[in-house]
Amino acid sequence: MNSAPAAAASLAADFDLRRLDAAFYDDPFATYRALREHAPVKRMADGSIFLSRYADVVAVYKDVKTFSSDKHEEFFPKYGESPLFAHHTTSLVFNDPPLHTRVRRLIAGALTPRHVAAMEVGLVAWVDHLLDAMAARGPEAEVDLIESFCGAIPVEVIGNLLGVPRDERGPLRDWSLAILGALEPALSPQVEARGNRAVGEFLAYLDGLVSRRRAAPGDPETDVLTRLIQGGTDGEALTTPELLHNCIFLLNAGHETTTNLIGNGLKCLIDSPDQKQRLIDEPALIRSAVEEFLRIESSNQLGNRITTTEAEIGGVRLAPRTQVTLGIGAANRDPAQFDDPDRLDIGRHPNRHVAFGSGIHQCVGMGLARLEGQVAIGRFVARFPDFRLAAPAVRAQRARFRGHVRLPVCLGEPRSKP
Ligand code: HEM
Repeated sequence: MNSAPAAAASLAADFDLRRLDAAFYDDPFATYRALREHAPVKRMADGSIFLSRYADVVAVYKDVKTFSSDKHEEFFPKYGESPLFAHHTTSLVFNDPPLHTRVRRLIAGALTPRHVAAMEVGLVAWVDHLLDAMAARGPEAEVDLIESFCGAIPVEVIGNLLGVPRDERGPLRDWSLAILGALEPALSPQVEARGNRAVGEFLAYLDGLVSRRRAAPGDPETDVLTRLIQGGTDGEALTTPELLHNCIFLLNAGHETTTNLIGNGLKCLIDSPDQKQRLIDEPALIRSAVEEFLRIESSNQLGNRITTTEAEIGGVRLAPRTQVTLGIGAANRDPAQFDDPDRLDIGRHPNRHVAFGSGIHQCVGMGLARLEGQVAIGRFVARFPDFRLAAPAVRAQRARFRGHVRLPVCLGEPRSKP
């Protein structure tokens, strides 16, 4: 074996999600390539397995009987009896039917294509308001896009969806970062404590919000919180813990992932000037461009399942109760599914990525996330076509949620509004 394949083989042999080094967070894709080639069904030290091939990841998503989303068994050793344990094991995403089905139906009813389309006018106005505020700082001012733009869009959208008053949205981002940060494969005591504290504070806040909404209900057609409070037509209302924890989940799910989609997309354009120019010349490419950002820099890189019975995946037999990590970011760069997978092509077609998962848990907010990405990135590039990095971007040191902590840019001379 010459040295490159030997290095890849040893990268795959040494891989363990609970022992990742700083280089991995910057660029996990070389490791994912090595895994796909040398250990596509990789067994890690704790007995769990990591899947990196597209076909295997999709097969697991589709087989919900064999691969369960229930996380009680996986999370108890990690969190013990704690607010984080109660939160995650009550969220729809980490449950199987019937709880999953009840909650999903309530949320999905307010996020149909018709409802999402109705949000576009308000979203465009909010994005233009943020662009105006940045333009007022001058073409050479250093602007952190994560703080001033990417993070400010989802908090508005998801805040509106649940009817959180604007002046109460301040702590949402930190709570969300703290709770989702505790989902990292390796968990430090500080991150765990921060996550537990955030669940407690979030629950206390939502308890008050729910009481106010019970007293003065919103329109159940569009207000997700009112829908969740009132329950479905089948008379199966959620219990109070189910209600509160799923609100937390929804606020979190719609938040960091979308911030990262917008940030990752803008960073991809900085790194690929030819693709940036292509988008400026052909703004209609924004739809396929957003799909490509989702594929190549998937903001949610990992998914998890557990086998309910003996199973086989990629030719490997798995015992019942085997924990399985789905490498979404790895699958989305599998050359067996995508031509030249490491190349950004904003016109890529077809592009059947799994950035939103697949099967019964596929992201219920994907229509909304896509709209946010298209409006935010499309309008930003049209307004500031000459934007460039002002200082190095700072990547979050996270394996699950891929994005930036800081993205400092100079905007350049703004163009008029499209
Ligand atoms: C770029 C942005 C987003 C990405 C990459 C993303 C990704 C995902 C993924 C991969 C799943 C599947 C999890 C699994 O199967 O285990 C999921 C589920 C979910 N997402 Fe998203 N999401 C995004 C934005 C949103 C938004 C904006 C909302 C809400 C408005 C949302 C709400 C949800 C919900 C409620 C679920 C659980 C669905 C279920 O379990 O049936 N997401 N998301």
